[in-house]
Amino acid sequence: MLLSPALAYGYRYRAPPLKHLLTFTLLHHPRHPRHRRPPAFEPLSPTILSLSSQFPNPNFLTGNSLFLRMERFWTGSGINKNKAMVEHLKAYGVISSKKVAEVMESIDRALFVPGGNAPYYDSPMPIGYNATISAPHMHATCLQLLEENLQPGMHALDVGSGTGYLTACFALMVGPQGRAVGVEHIPELVSSSIENIQKSAAAALLREGSLSVHAGDGRLGWPEHAPYDAIHVGAAAPEIPQALIDQLKPGGRMVIPVGTIFQDLKVVDKNLDGSVSVRSETSVRYVPLTSRDMQLRGV
Ligand SMILES: C[S@@+](CC[C@H](N)C(=O)[O-])C[C@H]1O[C@@H](n2cnc3c(N)ncnc32)[C@H](O)[C@@H]1O
Repeated sequence: MLLSPALAYGYRYRAPPLKHLLTFTLLHHPRHPRHRRPPAFEPLSPTILSLSSQFPNPNFLTGNSLFLRMERFWTGSGINKNKAMVEHLKAYGVISSKKVAEVMESIDRALFVPGGNAPYYDSPMPIGYNATISAPHMHATCLQLLEENLQPGMHALDVGSGTGYLTACFALMVGPQGRAVGVEHIPELVSSSIENIQKSAAAALLREGSLSVHAGDGRLGWPEHAPYDAIHVGAAAPEIPQALIDQLKPGGRMVIPVGTIFQDLKVVDKNLDGSVSVRSETSVRYVPLTSRDMQLRGV
């Protein structure tokens, strides 16, 4: 059954859990030192409505409801460049670090968004195989959350690497002495992500071997280059896979959406004594972390 576009966006976006509304209110309060208040809610633009009609169900919305209000700014005719996208994410406080801004400016999102779709629009976009490239604000949020664990020389794992966009960002951050590994279970996406990366600022790292993308079930991680300082999971797991916790280094951090209908972006920190702390960052909507067969059948 196809959900109407309005429903696919509306039911979830307009009624986030109370705690997230509170987070939103506080973060975007006009007196908050780091954040400007976003504009009042406006009806969805025709662009986003037509894009959302390509998604057969709301699982295809890989983003955070809280930033829907930014959309009117992304439709402006001047907002069509990667740098401008980063500037807006900075202006809204989504990007607060110089390093994350630099990396997102260096990796041009247009190289990773399949042709025809607005690459700098703050929305997930379809990439085929019932998958999406996540919205820019989600990429920025995850880079911010992982920044301390993406220092030069560190190891990073990107599970459900899709287009390769975040894997490329990770590779620039950890540098040639580090290791950035993408794992994606759709072989065609692995191939196209490698082609994307070859055109990007991370091409040399791919050539020299500190960046690699592999076909496999990301729920099992990628033991060859474990333990990881940073793990990002780009699809929602019903629960946190034990293999990923095992492959996290003490002092390491994993960012993973968890849940089915209602999902939270969880921040999982492995303490130096090996114990694990988990907190919820925000409410999100991601495609499921599942088997290839289930994904291709759209279950
Ligand atoms: C929302 S997309 C995000 C992709 C990537 N972060 C990006 O922005 O381009 C989620 C990705 O996870 C992949 N995926 C889902 N389950 C997986 C699994 N068990 N193992 C590996 N990849 C998986 C999907 O094929 C899809 O490419």
